[in-house]
Amino acid sequence: MKLIKTKDYDEMSMKAAQIIINKVRQNESATLGFATGGTPIGTYDLLIKDFKQNCTSYEQINSINLDEYVGLHSTHPSSYRYFMHNQLFKHINISPENIYFPDGTAEDLQLECERFENVIQNLGGIDLQLLGVGQNGHIGFNEPGTPFHSVTHVVELTENTRKVNSRFFNHINEVPYKAITMGISSILKSKHILLLVSGEEKAEVMQRLLSEDVHDQLPVSVLKKHPHFTVICDEKALKGVKV
Ligand code: F6R
Repeated sequence: MKLIKTKDYDEMSMKAAQIIINKVRQNESATLGFATGGTPIGTYDLLIKDFKQNCTSYEQINSINLDEYVGLHSTHPSSYRYFMHNQLFKHINISPENIYFPDGTAEDLQLECERFENVIQNLGGIDLQLLGVGQNGHIGFNEPGTPFHSVTHVVELTENTRKVNSRFFNHINEVPYKAITMGISSILKSKHILLLVSGEEKAEVMQRLLSEDVHDQLPVSVLKKHPHFTVICDEKALKGVKV
């Protein structure tokens, strides 16, 4: 595990964007794994800025998103597809046919999970997977207790995750109870994993990541087993943490 400490959120976003841009420049048909949530927004803003200024091209890039709510169509403002379209995709020259998401509106969700897992494999795996982490250590929607061998699957969201995510909805009642997420083993197959951690509310999970052994009650801890795992973390998320 490589830990990059940054002064603040902006510097974290800058370092993450630089790693992604370098990957795209080295390999114009790379497969990038993206996450939603608040943490990567600054990084996406910088990718857009770079695209406008330096014309880094995403034309042949494939993008795969980690997860999606069950029941939300891509036109729903709180769906992850909608989020990614607005925060990143509509601002760069990525080809719509190269954008992959689990479909939370599929009739047969089990089949959809299998289809999505095959998509990842058929693209030759993910070259660089961007991740955020939940306060309880979840990655994607893999909540504590998720087996490390899990592949793409349907999950019941915990009340805590629904509450935290309700900030992206008008009301907590609108937050779906289920989602499709890449599994832990699907995530671990990525060639490089880039975890972004920012803010005081992540200090406890950061402390746990650095001090606890790998165990399934702290899903993010499994990333320490990955041979190419980078964490970019700001000072607030390292508050009280001895490194
Ligand atoms: C998002 C995702 C989640 C978030 C995590 C942190 O696609 O899979 O695991 O990365 O909940 O969210 P933020 O960044 O909002 O703190």
